[in-house]
Amino acid sequence: MDRLSAAARLMIVSDLDHTMVDHHDAENLSLLRFNALWEAHYRRDSLLVFSTGRSPTLYKQLRKEKPMLTPDITIMSVGTEITYGDAMVPDNGWVEVLNQKWDKKIVTEEASRFPELKLQSETEQRPHKVSFYVDKDKAQTVTQKLSEIFKNRGLDVKIIYSGGMDLDILPQGAGKGQALAYLLRKFKSEGKVPTNTLVCGDSGNDAELFSIPEVYGVMVSNAQEELLQWHAANAKNNPKITHATERCAAGIIQAIGHFKLGPSTSPRDIKDESDGEVKSIDLGHEVVKLYLFYERWRRAEIDNSEIYLSSLKANCCPSGFCVPPSGGEISLAEAINQFRKCYGDKQGKQFRVWVDRVLSTEIGPGTWLVKFHKWELSGEERACSIVSIIVRIKVI
Ligand code: GLC
Ligand code: MG
Repeated sequence: MDRLSAAARLMIVSDLDHTMVDHHDAENLSLLRFNALWEAHYRRDSLLVFSTGRSPTLYKQLRKEKPMLTPDITIMSVGTEITYGDAMVPDNGWVEVLNQKWDKKIVTEEASRFPELKLQSETEQRPHKVSFYVDKDKAQTVTQKLSEIFKNRGLDVKIIYSGGMDLDILPQGAGKGQALAYLLRKFKSEGKVPTNTLVCGDSGNDAELFSIPEVYGVMVSNAQEELLQWHAANAKNNPKITHATERCAAGIIQAIGHFKLGPSTSPRDIKDESDGEVKSIDLGHEVVKLYLFYERWRRAEIDNSEIYLSSLKANCCPSGFCVPPSGGEISLAEAINQFRKCYGDKQGKQFRVWVDRVLSTEIGPGTWLVKFHKWELSGEERACSIVSIIVRIKVI
């Protein structure tokens, strides 16, 4: 959270399964489009928050399977665990809030009396979350009965039904919405409330996100019945909530445009960058464009033309030059020359490149250190390298 010295321009709080991540998109194209947009135009001054029902174990598994960016804040286990940064430093203050009127032992004991409830795997049972599977037609009755029992035993719990199969029992003060409200209170106390916040979801456990005052919200096109019903009953006339016509991450990009929250064209959707004249040097955008070119070059999606290489060299750092700190002082122009050797070697093959955590720091007048993680997916193999580039921009 301390990464930004001022309020974030945009804070995106997104669910993962079937929202940021489309499990029906084997190529992950909409996620890759979102990634390029975020790193090119938002990473520098905005905050990315993932809010998932998954436990830390299943969240880490998903990160290994899908080309996901590193969020600034990770909220897991349906708003019961908040962590910061790549190191995932836990928010212990939040744990204290959740301990109120909560007794996991009683919750497990009472719920186990219901044969309709099937306990989820051990990894998904967390200190402030007890989770089951239950059939759609039984969910409502079980929820009512359980609520009554817990009340009589002096517990204040929240029962959430998601995805037409998952039933989570949490402390009343927990949930994705309460976790976001807690974060916003924290930002307020630091005088850093994001200028805009966009929440994104598809299922029952996301409903709470849409009831937080002031936020924009997008229900992706593939949203579940339970979320659409909640919206119809509780937020139908809220103009800040939209139901996208596009699936998952594509729906998020669509909402950024719909609410005019900032740039909403992913660099992946621009086929020919050469006509765009460079207005200002945005290093994040330059890095994204460079690696997109590299991907398309190796996939032979662009012509093997010297014109492209020279325009890339000219456009990349129009008034400066780049030198990697290690690796024998290869100038960026020279590195681009080496592209010649690998033109089309990934044609017709699965090959994608994306960058994560692109951050630039001015280390001297006109001299910038740009650091990022570069990922390559080739067939089933995924590889990451940490890249540092020094860019000297000539002051004219
Ligand atoms: C994720 C979690 C599961 C939870 C569900 C709905 O799938 O792994 O435990 O029940 O989200 O919140
Ligand atoms: Mg979901």
